[in-house]
Amino acid sequence: MDKNDQINKFVEFSKEIIKTEGINEETLSKISKELSKLSNIEDLFRFGNHRGRGANAAESYVLYEDADPHGPVLQLAKFDGPTAIHNHGSWGALCGYIREQYYTQWIVEETDDTKVTQTLDTIIKPGDYVYWPDVPNDIHKQIPVEDDAWVIIYMGRNAFDTERIVYD
Ligand SMILES: [Fe+2]
Repeated sequence: MDKNDQINKFVEFSKEIIKTEGINEETLSKISKELSKLSNIEDLFRFGNHRGRGANAAESYVLYEDADPHGPVLQLAKFDGPTAIHNHGSWGALCGYIREQYYTQWIVEETDDTKVTQTLDTIIKPGDYVYWPDVPNDIHKQIPVEDDAWVIIYMGRNAFDTERIVYD
């Protein structure tokens, strides 16, 4: 399959499964598994539009941006230092691409939205993936294990222009 088709097929699959089955543990897991397959594409950079620095990323390429301004976005991003504890304003999935990254995730405790609970603390190697549920539980932090790490990020909703919440 053409690599560009592979990227578009992934997005189509993800949009369809969310539309028919909703955002849940099972659909997010299936989407992440498909996302992980894209990490086998060696020259993924070639398929993206250079976007440069993002809210947290040091460098990024947009691999897919939906025609719907609230539609999904797929990007390849480099992190060269620890991010703040932040959210994305959307559910999403992340997969390792080049080198390793520490990843920590939190959810808001239902009883008190000022208190968060850590739910995941792991190292993401190329091909490994994680996913986070929708707002307000899309809170995480990323730190490259070495100098930098590249990851593929799929966001269910375009939140480029949404202000990120940064937590202490
Ligand atoms: Fe993030």
